[in-house]
Amino acid sequence: MHKITVAGTGYVGLVAGVCFAEMGHQVTCVDIDENKVALMKSGVTPIYEAGLQELMQKNYAVGRITYTTDYKSAYKDADAIFIGVGTPEQPDGSANLSYIANVARQIAETIEKDCLVIVKSTVPIGTNDKVEQFIQDFLVHDVKVEVASNPEFLSQGSAVHDTLHAERIIIGTESKWAEELLKKIYKPFHIPIVSVNRRSAEMIKYASNDFLALKISYMNDIANLCELVGADIQDVARGMSFDERIGGKFLNAGIGFGGSCFPKDTKALEYIAKQHGYELRTVKSAIDVNKDQKTMLYKKASKRLITFNGLKVAVLGLTFKPGTDDLREAASLENVPLLLEQGADIFAYDPVGAANFAKNFPEGISGRGSIKYVEHIEDALEGANVCFIFTEWGEVKAVTPDMYKKLMRTPLIYDGRNIYGVDEMRAAGVEYHSIGREP
Ligand code: UGA
Repeated sequence: MHKITVAGTGYVGLVAGVCFAEMGHQVTCVDIDENKVALMKSGVTPIYEAGLQELMQKNYAVGRITYTTDYKSAYKDADAIFIGVGTPEQPDGSANLSYIANVARQIAETIEKDCLVIVKSTVPIGTNDKVEQFIQDFLVHDVKVEVASNPEFLSQGSAVHDTLHAERIIIGTESKWAEELLKKIYKPFHIPIVSVNRRSAEMIKYASNDFLALKISYMNDIANLCELVGADIQDVARGMSFDERIGGKFLNAGIGFGGSCFPKDTKALEYIAKQHGYELRTVKSAIDVNKDQKTMLYKKASKRLITFNGLKVAVLGLTFKPGTDDLREAASLENVPLLLEQGADIFAYDPVGAANFAKNFPEGISGRGSIKYVEHIEDALEGANVCFIFTEWGEVKAVTPDMYKKLMRTPLIYDGRNIYGVDEMRAAGVEYHSIGREP
């Protein structure tokens, strides 16, 4: 058992902290936000993640996890401090490291015993060297401190499962002491550990995320070509997936990748390359394809309809993917303003993300159009002239082709997630447009 402190209680920090506690470690989670800390102490998770709240409550009840804003007491005698604060994208595409720097300085000024500081946040290659130097420059007590890289590979929506059953744990260290300590901390997880140096660990995170982003953009690019040549992207993907070198995952063409990671990490790596005088052409292409992909359906629909003005537009799904309330870089954020500008009366449905979306787009008149949030999909579809599907929630998938036909004024569907078969929609009398299947 180790005494572990986790800085930052977002997706990365909180899930890591809770999972360390579940594995028997003594964990303190630190956050500057007092309201958030009070919420977590009352057993409520500030983020929506399957299984998280139950584990929070279970481990809090037995005293294995605590939450605090008092970073001094949380850092001073920790064996290991994990940093899981955000590294948001800046206007030029680079990562904002100010949150990491703040935590690093607080650590330097408070630790009173030898300590390993582990950066879980995604940071540009070489950052951890600087963080270590930074901490050493500001150290107040005469203690040994080292920095290790331990990038996170969890996906939102399945964060707890991904952490407890990860395919690998990457640790980037510069000493045997750091490597052994991290191996001990992770031993109870029984997950293969890949031990490399710090810079390689940092690169593994970017290279992995950007490869997946590239895979998606590649499929979207091929999907657009499929439409032009009369092929079906889903059949193409299925055919490709049997080749083990390609693999069957992340081959789904759609409305482009969103979320807090792929968009940010592709731009960050492109920026890092540029700083070194190198143009990362593959990643740049993935970014370009993704930008166009997000409004692909809107453009298709604009060609098909004379105007959106005064039309009832059903929008099904607002979040960047199912299983999360996160809207960052979601396709809905690009398309809804376009539709409102064109005078559409939007009826939006999302089982989890509507409240967050309403913060940006409050219910009522907006631009030339209006937006209303509905609790039942039927209310969005009833009398609608057109329907856009942006997120493949189970609730959306459960809508049968007949329901569109029955409920909508004109059953005209633009599906950004290829939920339905082209033939079943045609058979139900629905005009169906999707990605990479029919013009
Ligand atoms: C991603 C990675 O999958 C995680 O391994 C990584 O740890 C995480 O980023 C991170 O860096 O923190 P996440 O952003 O939660 O996880 O979501 P994904 O499931 O990867 O989906 C990202 C986007 O790609 C979504 O908009 C999704 O709809 C889209 N996508 C995914 C596709 O369009 N097609 C696919 O085949 C798969």
